[in-house]
Amino acid sequence: MGPPGAGKGTQGNWISNYLNIPKVSSGDLFREHQNNKTELGQLASSYMQKGKLVPDKITVAMVMEWIDNNKQSEGFVLDGYPRTLPQAEALDIALNNNGLGNVDKAINVDVPTEVLISRLSGRLVCTNCNQIYNIKYAPPKNDRVCDNCTKQLQIRDDDKTEAIQKRIQVYFESTAPLISYYESTNILVKIDGSNSISVVTEELKSILSN
Ligand code: AP5
Ligand code: MG
Repeated sequence: MGPPGAGKGTQGNWISNYLNIPKVSSGDLFREHQNNKTELGQLASSYMQKGKLVPDKITVAMVMEWIDNNKQSEGFVLDGYPRTLPQAEALDIALNNNGLGNVDKAINVDVPTEVLISRLSGRLVCTNCNQIYNIKYAPPKNDRVCDNCTKQLQIRDDDKTEAIQKRIQVYFESTAPLISYYESTNILVKIDGSNSISVVTEELKSILSN
């Protein structure tokens, strides 16, 4: 969990490799639907471009389908899901119904707003393999080309000033309250995401090894 630009995707990809378990980003799933021009993608676009949350009913169904397809794995990383209380409750019910136990850890990455804006204005993403780059902080080896799969890198449609501001506002209104939801079950871990990518990764490594 964390505001836009906190590093959920960057660190979530690292955790997925480190623990060798799959990761899903609800934002990436929506973007895949957009690229494939599905009905769901078109519906999600209208919310995402404005920086608003996609309604719970749609989001929950999409993520639960992913969980259902990945329930044989020894665990998974959820990036950007849940973002509302109903999404968190739906997750708990689905895990229990599938005999998958409970959420082990909810990691909240905290970063000051001015840092978020600077990071998002320099982000480049690979729409093929979802690798994340930054012009300043994590540049690709070759200009605008993905190191992993050599596909062209892109700027996200919602990384425009107005949508960024709205996404940050929505985070504080709708998602930040989830911090106390996970605090109440003692699984919340807070980390300072304002440090460099490698320092944050080191902190996560020690959290995961505990
Ligand atoms: P989503 O794609 O999840 O976007 P977001 O929450 O706005 O978060 P970001 O992906 O922008 O940031 P991040 O924390 O992943 O940061 P990153 O690692 O890329 O969601 C998009 C939209 O989809 C939502 O607005 C909503 O409409 C919809 N949606 C998605 N999930 C939903 C849900 N559950 N319910 C309803 N609607 C939903 O890093 C950012 C940049 O910073 C990169 O360039 C990176 O290289 C750099 N960086 C990362 N860490 C560091 C560091 N420590 N130091 C320096 N640079 C860093
Ligand atoms: Mg992300």
